[in-house]
Formats: sequence, C-alpha cells, structure tokens
Amino acid sequence: MSSSQRYRGTAKAEPTDMKTSSIPPTDTGAKEKAELKEAVKEQAAATSNGLSVLDILRIIAGMLILSCGLSYLSTSGESLTWGYNAWWTRAREWRSLIQGEISLTDSELALYDGSDPKKPIYLALNGTIYDVSISPSTYGPGGSYHFFAGRDAARAFLTGCFAEDSVPDLRGVEQMYMPVDPEEKVGLKPEEREKELEKAQKRKKMTKGELKNRHAQELKSARKQVVAGLESWHKLFRGDKGKKYRRVGTVKREEGWLEKMPKRGLCENAEKGRPVRKYDV
Ligand code: HEM
Repeated sequence: MSSSQRYRGTAKAEPTDMKTSSIPPTDTGAKEKAELKEAVKEQAAATSNGLSVLDILRIIAGMLILSCGLSYLSTSGESLTWGYNAWWTRAREWRSLIQGEISLTDSELALYDGSDPKKPIYLALNGTIYDVSISPSTYGPGGSYHFFAGRDAARAFLTGCFAEDSVPDLRGVEQMYMPVDPEEKVGLKPEEREKELEKAQKRKKMTKGELKNRHAQELKSARKQVVAGLESWHKLFRGDKGKKYRRVGTVKREEGWLEKMPKRGLCENAEKGRPVRKYDV
C-alpha cells in the first residue's frame, strides 16, 4: 500500500500490512494512529529536499551579512557593497541617518568654514548642507575653493561669479542660459556689432506670436539647465561621484527670506557666457 493510500485509508487495515508493519497489532486505534504518523513522515521525507524555507532565508541573510562585513573591512568602513556607489550603499550615509539631520542658520553655518580645526567643514548648496571636511586643501583656509565653505553660494556655483554671487538667491539665474541675438552679445567690438546689426536688418521679422513661443521654449530649456547644473553639484557633494563628501542636513531660514533679499541681475561673467542664437543670414 502506498503512503498516500495509507494516509487516506479506512479504519480497517489489510492483513498484508499487518505482516510488514513494525507496529504490534494490539490496539486498532493506536495502530492506525501510528500508521498515519509513519505515512506522514514518509511523505515529508519524500517531498522535502532537506532544507526548509526558513533555512534558505537564514543562509541568504548570513551570506549578506558576511559580504557586508567583509566589504566594510576591506574598504576601511566606506562601503558595504564592494564599492557599488548608490547613496544607500555608503556606510557614512547610514551613519548620518542614525546621527540625525543637522539644521543650521546661515550665520551658524559660517562657523563651519574650516577656520576652527575642531569643527567639520561644511558648505551648503541651495539649502542642503554637505560635509566636505575630507578636502581641507580645497575648502579650508587658503584652499582654492575656501570661498564656498561655511555658506550657501548656490548662485555662484552656476554663474562662476564667486565674488558677487555668494548667495543662495537663484532668482533670474536662468537668464544665463537664455540665448541672445548675435548683435546683442555683450563684449562685441563696435565694428563687430555694426556688422551683426547689418545682418539683423536682412533677417525675416518674427511675428509677436512667434517671438512669444520662442521665448517660452527658451525659458523652459533654461530652467531645466539650472536644475541640471545644480544637480550635478549635488551629486558631487552627496558623494555620488566618488568623493568622500556627504549630506548632513539643511539650512534653517525664516519664511520670506528670499523676498527680503534685493533682486540681482546677471553678473558680467554669466552675461558674457550667454549662448548666441543662430540664423541662416
Ligand atoms: C562656474 C564656475 C566654476 C565653479 C562653480 C567651480 C567650482 C569648483 C569646485 C567646487 C571645485 C572643487 C570640487 C571638489 O570638491 O572636488 C573645483 C575644482 C577645480 N576647479 Fe573649478 N569651478 C569653476 C570653474 C573653473 C574653471 C573655469 C577652472 C579652470 C580655469 C577651474 C579649475 C578647477 C580645478 C583645477 C579644480 C581642481 C583643483 C582643486 O580642487 O582645487 N574651475 N571647482
């Protein structure tokens, strides 16, 4: 009799069964119970490969922990995933998360410009604070970019006007990506401008609608470039590009801080760098 037959079997046992079974035929109820137990055991043995789901999960978890531990040790505590560099794979990001976010006002942030060797060096970009202590020769006193330390100079990160634009105010900065007509280009010599003006006279005039459309398209593209430009710096300071920088918190600012700042135009450097529209004539 197969184990499944036995499992489904009636209370009456077959005589052949009695011969082969190791259970003494004393009490029918107890015998059936024992038979059932044996059948279940047999079935379990036949279907199991020796490992339960829990065992498999335990093995996977153990291997993961071992891999993370070895990676942590062999990368001097930098990576839990053998150098694969998404933010969640970086041990220092988890340390930051556990330590909690910091929140500093602009004047508190100024204390972290590297002048005090006991403090870390921070810089902020559009409200996000990053720890750049790992590069004191760049951001510390006397460093090539010390200018960025202890402040949020998001505007200067885009315009490159380090002296004039050491502010987080990004209003109107997209203008630097808005094209100008060749005759409007800043820095042209008078004779060059004269030549461009002559060419402009020959150009087909655009309708008001066409001008409006063009402006809308150029503005949209310019705003995208602002976002992309900032994101590229965020990536560097988050550590996505391999530098050991990390995000540590945000700048605390009172409501309406931006409106209180005087609006500024484009600095000379950014104005000069504006793209020029291309025409056939
Ligand atoms: C929008 C203009 C610019 C901005 C905002 C800017 C910003 C920066 C920053 C923040 C760093 C440090 C990156 C890091 O921490 O790894 C850096 C590095 C560097 N930049 Fe610029 N930069 C600009 C333009 C330029 C230009 C025009 C030059 C070349 C003439 C230049 C040359 C360098 C060099 C050689 C380094 C690496 C050396 C160092 O870390 O001191 N940068 N730049």
